[in-house]
Amino acid sequence: MINLQKQLLTIFSLALMVFISVAAIRPKYRNLKVLPQDISEGKLDSIMHSYSQALGVNCEFCHAKKGYSLDFDSDDNKMKDNARSMMRLTIDINRQYFRYDTTVNPVYLNTVACYTCHRGDEMPPDIKKLKLEEKTEKKPLFPFGGK
Ligand code: HEC
Ligand code: HEC
Repeated sequence: MINLQKQLLTIFSLALMVFISVAAIRPKYRNLKVLPQDISEGKLDSIMHSYSQALGVNCEFCHAKKGYSLDFDSDDNKMKDNARSMMRLTIDINRQYFRYDTTVNPVYLNTVACYTCHRGDEMPPDIKKLKLEEKTEKKPLFPFGGK
């Protein structure tokens, strides 16, 4: 009887250990395609706030709604992928055209940042003006092809 209890206890503690290690290995963030997987909560938070400020928007501009809250790892909001290509663009600009600290992950370089172009607006002000003019004057925005 004592033996059976001991065996059960061993099985139980082994199961608990497996459970704890799986929970520890599971990444904190589930859907990062550009930012590093091991990014700290504080760093992710400050980057997300900088995006919101640079574009003059709230979190839900890029993140899909789920009931009354937001589903941050979902990609249902297409703006999130727009933002990802902008992140890649910004990384490339910083890495290819400026001197930079090679010990820093290029994601964190900010010689050029979102704000440099966006100036607190979801559509950079110069581009917005061009698009408005295009609407009123009916002149092509990109006369040499493109969009
Ligand atoms: C301009 C678009 C944009 C705005 C605004 C924005 N985010 Fe994000 N957020 C992203 C993108 C893009 C990712 C995914 C990054 C990647 O793939 O590496 C992300 C990822 C996240 C994640 C990680 C989700 C996971 O588990 O994969 C959290 C949490 C998050 N954002 C919170 C916020 C909060 C809170 C705000 C508002 C303060 C905010 N975001 C505003 C674009 C945005
Ligand atoms: C070199 C200038 C530049 C930088 C840097 C830049 N953007 Fe942009 N962004 C633009 C331009 C220009 C557009 C409009 C593109 C178009 O309409 O074709 C745009 C559009 C966007 C859009 C789509 C807005 C909409 O209403 O459709 C998002 C989202 C965005 N940028 C997020 C970001 C984020 C996040 C960063 C920083 C990681 C960033 N951008 C950095 C120039 C820039």
